[in-house]
Amino acid sequence: MAHQVEIELKTPEQIGLMRRAGLVVADALARMRAAVVPGVSTADLDRIAEETIRAAGAIPSFKGYHGYPASICSSVNDQVVHAIPSPRQVLREGDLISIDCGAELDGWHGDAAITVGVGEVHADQRRLIRVAEDAMWSGIAAAARGARSGKGRLTDISFAIQSSVRKAGRYGIVEGYGGHGIGSAMHQDPFVENKGRPGKGPMLRPGMALAIEPMITRGRPKVAELDDGWTVVTVDGSVAAHVEHTMAICDDGVWVLTAEDGGRSRLGDLVTAREPAVSGA
Ligand code: MF3
Ligand code: CO
Repeated sequence: MAHQVEIELKTPEQIGLMRRAGLVVADALARMRAAVVPGVSTADLDRIAEETIRAAGAIPSFKGYHGYPASICSSVNDQVVHAIPSPRQVLREGDLISIDCGAELDGWHGDAAITVGVGEVHADQRRLIRVAEDAMWSGIAAAARGARSGKGRLTDISFAIQSSVRKAGRYGIVEGYGGHGIGSAMHQDPFVENKGRPGKGPMLRPGMALAIEPMITRGRPKVAELDDGWTVVTVDGSVAAHVEHTMAICDDGVWVLTAEDGGRSRLGDLVTAREPAVSGA
């Protein structure tokens, strides 16, 4: 029996504030996506993130988090998550980079990640990115359906992610890392596994906000942490992709707070028709 988790339920106004933080993250990631070309260093990307976040009056939430030294995690090729940007890490044609970014605005958090190819990348790498993205959106859609039916539980999300990946072929689903509650702190309960049986854990209900973040490998799922205490790599050296969105459950659907369109293009009418007002924007 899992321990009883304490989940912070947000009011519509608070979800509106989280949307403002989410849009700052979305903007930072869009700028970094556009800047990913051969010759750019991961430290260059980190600078773009910090400048964008601070110009919006927000705070890069990763910086100083348990001593983390940067505003993004920039994980290249066999690096899975939490790799620290460096001026010595210069992107090359054919690389795959996952960029994870978080911002805090007026006390509320947004957290999202993208995986991008550098220049021309192999078709297998492009497919890996799509598998990770499809898995994330399947998880978000499962949350929307589960909340709407009133019968959904947390691990329905995990099961949807796993099913999506399995359907795509032989990919590794990284364990030990996963999604999480988010709101007045970046990491809150509950932990969201990226695999597992459905129908377990707390009921999905309006006011919950979750970061959904599958980590998928082209090979085996086993990972290890490097001596820097942060960087997570695949043990078999296979390439990994990591994508993430922050989403909130509203009365009539979900709202993907770190997607510019709120998730509409991927989710259609699973997205709320009644977005809480974004005040003071
Ligand atoms: N977005 C990451 C996650 O939720 C958090 C990065 S932790 C940091 O997994 F310390 F690197 F910032
Ligand atoms: Co996260």
